[in-house]
Amino acid sequence: MRIAIIGTGYVGLVSGTCFSEFGHEVVCVDTNWNKIELLKQGKSPIFEPGLEPMIAKNLQAGRLSFSTDLKSAVASADAVFIGVGTPSRRGDGQADLTYVFAAAREIAEAISGYTVIVTKSTVPVGTGAQVQEIISKICDSKHFDVVSNPEFLREGAAIEDFMRPDRVVVGTSSAKAKTVLEEIYRPLSLIQTPMLFTSLESSELTKYAGNAFLATKITFINEMADLCEKVGADIHDVAKGIGLDGRIGQKFLHAGPGFGGSCFPKDTRALHQTSLDNQSPLRIVEAVIDINETRKINMAEKIISACGGSVSDKKIAVLGLTFKPNTDDMRESPSLDIIPSLQRSGAQIFAYDPEGMSEARELLSDVTFCENAYDPLENADALVIITEWNEFRALDLERVKTALKKPVMVDLRNIYEPNDMLARGFEYSCIGRSNNSLKT
Ligand SMILES: NC(=O)c1ccc[n+]([C@@H]2O[C@H](COP(=O)([O-])OP(=O)(O)OC[C@H]3O[C@@H](n4cnc5c(N)ncnc54)[C@H](O)[C@@H]3O)[C@@H](O)[C@H]2O)c1
Repeated sequence: MRIAIIGTGYVGLVSGTCFSEFGHEVVCVDTNWNKIELLKQGKSPIFEPGLEPMIAKNLQAGRLSFSTDLKSAVASADAVFIGVGTPSRRGDGQADLTYVFAAAREIAEAISGYTVIVTKSTVPVGTGAQVQEIISKICDSKHFDVVSNPEFLREGAAIEDFMRPDRVVVGTSSAKAKTVLEEIYRPLSLIQTPMLFTSLESSELTKYAGNAFLATKITFINEMADLCEKVGADIHDVAKGIGLDGRIGQKFLHAGPGFGGSCFPKDTRALHQTSLDNQSPLRIVEAVIDINETRKINMAEKIISACGGSVSDKKIAVLGLTFKPNTDDMRESPSLDIIPSLQRSGAQIFAYDPEGMSEARELLSDVTFCENAYDPLENADALVIITEWNEFRALDLERVKTALKKPVMVDLRNIYEPNDMLARGFEYSCIGRSNNSLKT
């Protein structure tokens, strides 16, 4: 199959590279010239484990190429995947479809012969029909079909998720388009990946329903963690106790500072707006959005309280800035709420992140960015762990204690054991594990 991917970001680049790994002939298109030039040299503009070697391998094999020329990429494609961004629209939080519609218009002008146009971007229900309408104004409808194929990959594990997905969802009413999508994903049939064919609308909504459910699960365990702190229970035990129930499952039951990233915050907002537009309230989703926003701010309060009630003129060391480990993505990371809030209370922030610092420099001001995990600790009044990168899981705790002015650690990811930290002489606080659980 000849495939064109429009938008070479986290989703477009991973999808395009993995399709070429399947054996398809793929052209990834982006309007960002710098990105395309980097990619032509086999270099990845994003940090995603395993991606760069796979790009280089498929470039060399001649199955993968990069271009700013949408017209020729589309003209020779059997299928065109739209993977452009759908950020939150200012004001109401609905997904901004400007990039999707612009791409649809450009594609319409470039189509030659029957082409399947696939929305891989996360788009509100009804968007596929709008894309269909836009294209049919320019192009005869017998030359194309519009299909929805939402992407479920997780940043940090994107290659594995794409190559071995739990399922592939395809929304279409066209038998011809269905055959094309079956052919594209045929390599996955060897590992018996379920392929779910639905209507366009069901497919579009499935993506939002999935993300909203996961965001709800995280929010549930976060609130349960707060209750644990009040009543002397331990959220690790509670999460394990409920997670072992097969109906609940153990994933997404890790209490933390609130969800961030490029998907959950914007997708819950967009779904909420869709529910309002259709007079079909989603009160759970509305509550999840509110709780999560407040939670990030509350984390700053938690840190201030661990520092004795004030961070004014105190040096706070922060480890981890990205919204989760194994990505350089800073979009809506809890650190972007927590750090400015601490700064407003007078704190001086010294931070380190293995991959997120160049992006963080654009988004945070007055932060001193350090070379490694130990540099920010020198003479700091407290250490705060915001993101659970592997290299923070086994810090040399004696070195940490010696470097800090006071042995205060706020672990917002629960990566250390409270008992152990207490025994080592730390003033340790984490999420949902109260002092009652510290008895040895
Ligand atoms: N990031 C994730 O983990 C993830 C997971 C699943 C779904 N999604 C969804 O996938 C979509 C893309 O997300 P992303 O994180 O990859 O976005 P991104 O911002 O990283 O990348 C989007 C890319 O599209 C390019 N672009 C915009 N308009 C273009 C045009 N007309 N022609 C060519 N290129 C164009 C931009 O330059 C940019 O490089 C979003 O709808 C998102 O919700 C993202």
